Amino acid sequence: ITRSELVDMEGVPLTKPMGITWDQVQKFKARPDDVYIATYAKAGTTWTQEIVDMIQQNGDTEKCRRETTYKRHPFLEWFVAEPPSERYSGVELANAMPSPRTIKIHLPVQLVPPSIWEQNCKIIYVARNAKDNMVSYYHFHRMNKAMPEPGTWEEFVEKFMSGQVLWGSWYDHVKGWWKAKDKHRILYLFYEDMKENPKREIQKIAKFLEKDLSQEVLNKIVHNTSFEVMKENPMTNYTKDFQGIMDHSISPFMRKGVVADWKNHFTVAQNEKFDEDYKRKMSDTSLVFRMEL
Ligand code: A3P
Repeated sequence: ITRSELVDMEGVPLTKPMGITWDQVQKFKARPDDVYIATYAKAGTTWTQEIVDMIQQNGDTEKCRRETTYKRHPFLEWFVAEPPSERYSGVELANAMPSPRTIKIHLPVQLVPPSIWEQNCKIIYVARNAKDNMVSYYHFHRMNKAMPEPGTWEEFVEKFMSGQVLWGSWYDHVKGWWKAKDKHRILYLFYEDMKENPKREIQKIAKFLEKDLSQEVLNKIVHNTSFEVMKENPMTNYTKDFQGIMDHSISPFMRKGVVADWKNHFTVAQNEKFDEDYKRKMSDTSLVFRMEL
């Protein structure tokens, strides 16, 4: 496996989708009962996927463990199997899936396939504060050999701040989706809120999906979607997917799962520079993040 090269898609650095073209992604046909989980990479996609599946399966862990999270929830714009053995695309897997489908996307809002808007699909967007998101993304680049080279931490910080990373600018991503939520069926969630009170956020998701959960089922979902349980669950911890691509000995996929780990990475000077730049980039939005709990 070689590290991906980034290609420019309308100003956003993306990788070539495997086995398909970007045109096929854009022409993807959504169904009205699809649920999309949209995130900037490393904002809590896998966690949210598992919560959604647990809600849809009414807390039945056996049903949720039928397949790895990656196969249960195709990743629309990339690959879903380890090449070259089963090189099929997220689009193809999604096309072959029975309804109702839950599909994940990391696309910035302007690159979402139009059919998703036309079908008025429900979308759950999860955002995570920039500093923790960047730290998690850095370690993910290190352990995932399909990702571009991260360079040193210092170099990665610069790339992240300038948006020269896969899926582009974090700043534009979170702001773009924040604006879109006023026009579309989007539930906008925060990783920090989910950490602070998972039960409350799971209830929000259940309500959005129009599912009634008993207290017993709700508690079961809270337990089974905790970091500790998901880290040990082979269907969610990515130890069964991408064995030749992800090296968990460099950094596990289920790494720390906390808020404010950025404090262990940023120097004081880096933090000051980052904050100043952040203020500028986020001055045109009402969106507010918590950098710690
Ligand atoms: P860290 O690298 O900070 O630990 P994604 O699924 O979008 O790729 O995001 C991965 C990040 O979410 C990782 O962050 C991972 O540990 C964290 N994560 C996964 N499951 C979690 C859970 N149940 N609770 C809290 N964090 C979780």
